[in-house]
Amino acid sequence: MNSNAQQWNASLYDSKHKFVSQLATDLVELLSPKAGERILDIGCGTGHLTQEIASYGAEVLGIDSAETMILQAKENYLNLQFAVMDATNLEFTEEFDAVFSNAVLHWIKQPEKVITGVWQSLKPKGRFVAEFGGKGNINLIQTALNNAICTEDSAFKEVVNPNYFPSIAEYGILLEKQGFELTFATLFARSTPLDGENGIGNWLKMFRNSVLVAFAEEAQTRILANVESQLRPTLYKNGTWFADYRRLRIVAIKE
Ligand code: BEZ
Repeated sequence: MNSNAQQWNASLYDSKHKFVSQLATDLVELLSPKAGERILDIGCGTGHLTQEIASYGAEVLGIDSAETMILQAKENYLNLQFAVMDATNLEFTEEFDAVFSNAVLHWIKQPEKVITGVWQSLKPKGRFVAEFGGKGNINLIQTALNNAICTEDSAFKEVVNPNYFPSIAEYGILLEKQGFELTFATLFARSTPLDGENGIGNWLKMFRNSVLVAFAEEAQTRILANVESQLRPTLYKNGTWFADYRRLRIVAIKE
């Protein structure tokens, strides 16, 4: 996971947001790891997909900018390699057959730096396989949060969105500028069930804490209740909350 302002709570992440890695097992199939390959997993979080990739016989290094996540990953998977590292500052030279990343690149608002680092890390013909939030991701949640915060405090006109959600065209141009060949790209809706009756509240506490901490506890409670009541008609179905995710998935080859 990568973000400057975002604080990462590894146990909340593992207990309530395991779906992040569970939904990406077909992304690992797209990566198609081979025995003996060296693979870099950018933003490995608590290590579940790093382990999934390693189960194919690949040698994987999981990196994450959040120390809390890496400590948990090391505890979860004693035999795997993990390191705290910033994805905008990768210092590898043609070491990896593939670079993989799930649900992380939307936290980095300097995508060019990541793409350059990935390029330098890959061997010639190496592949970059990634999925993250794309254009239109969480539009409903972000709009509801924006409304609730502006209602709570009229000094706010718009809440800063800490994420980067590019279109296929925007991200494709960056990849091609670097010299990658974009061989696969898709942007698709993935309405994602959230755990429990407080699903949307837990999501906001986990992923929008950088916005909520500006408010006292009572104000936060009002904001969360306001967001819930706005979203209930659209994102709460048969007792389950859903996040209006849209995923951008790409495969790019170092030419
Ligand atoms: C996502 O996985 O799309 C996402 C997660 C947290 C915040 C924003 C987007």
